Amino acid sequence: MRGKDLLTVAAIPRAQIFRLLQIARDLKAAPRHGRASQLLAGLTLGLLFEKPSTRTRVSFEAGMNQLGGQALFLSSDNIQLSRGESLADTAKVLSRYLDGLVVRTYQQAILEEWAHHASIPVINGLTDLCHPCQALADLLTISEKKGRLEGIKLAYIGDGNNIANSLIEASAKVGMHITVGCPPGYEPDRAIIQAAGEEAQYTGSIIEITHDPQEAASNADVLYTDVWTSMGQEHEHAHRVAAFSPYQVNESLLARACRDAIVMHCLPAHRGEEITAAVLDGPQSVVLDQAENRLHMQKAILTEWLGRPWA
Ligand code: CP
Ligand code: NVA
Repeated sequence: MRGKDLLTVAAIPRAQIFRLLQIARDLKAAPRHGRASQLLAGLTLGLLFEKPSTRTRVSFEAGMNQLGGQALFLSSDNIQLSRGESLADTAKVLSRYLDGLVVRTYQQAILEEWAHHASIPVINGLTDLCHPCQALADLLTISEKKGRLEGIKLAYIGDGNNIANSLIEASAKVGMHITVGCPPGYEPDRAIIQAAGEEAQYTGSIIEITHDPQEAASNADVLYTDVWTSMGQEHEHAHRVAAFSPYQVNESLLARACRDAIVMHCLPAHRGEEITAAVLDGPQSVVLDQAENRLHMQKAILTEWLGRPWA
């Protein structure tokens, strides 16, 4: 059984992940004004963000509207939280008005506190540790482009950050292989790698970490990268550019992957840093379909977690 909240991919049962994928496909194909358009009628979703966002905010807001509900954006700067009202009081009060809350924050522990104090479902809209909605949407994109997930080889090149962590968890759940190519000292979270390794014993997924980007990219079906400097790390930018420069996804690295490999990036991208414009804007890039699928997967998530199931 899934829990009240969606805080990590690891905490979602395998069967629920496959169910989400099927609902997302159904909702993507469903007529815009059909049954789906009233599924969440009368429900309100709050979006409490402590960091900027384009895709997560807009896809949740649009998704809620498309399902007949309403979304309310709550910048942490503009609510009483910014003047010292406690997280616990805010979570309890919001639970009296809202039917669900998407939180984007820094430490995973803060997200867990929101979930603890809120009586409504709390959905992780990105933390420093992980970005589950992104990775779940990425499973949809990979399955659409490659026709399957099991046995697919994903190479993630760059920072072992929140995106890498959630992709590791997602890969382990569905039997996808993942190789992370990152500089020494920038590996994904150790506990996540270990737990995913245990899950992988059931699904056949192979999880590897290497410091050699060429080796990681070899024969990949999916070449994935993300920014070298995540939100909150801006002061480390110069240092990171130096450490990560051998890990750029460019045409020579792409040539190591399978001929029909797809290129993915969660966006926003920094052309000329983690990826060249030629690759990001090139024929193998699927980044816009990837961004679109946030909407479809999150609509599936909303129907499941807000308790108005599609099927
Ligand atoms: N990929 C992603 O989560 O983008 P935003 O920061 O724009 O929401
Ligand atoms: N790793 C990036 C992802 C943005 C969607 C960050 O946390 O800033």
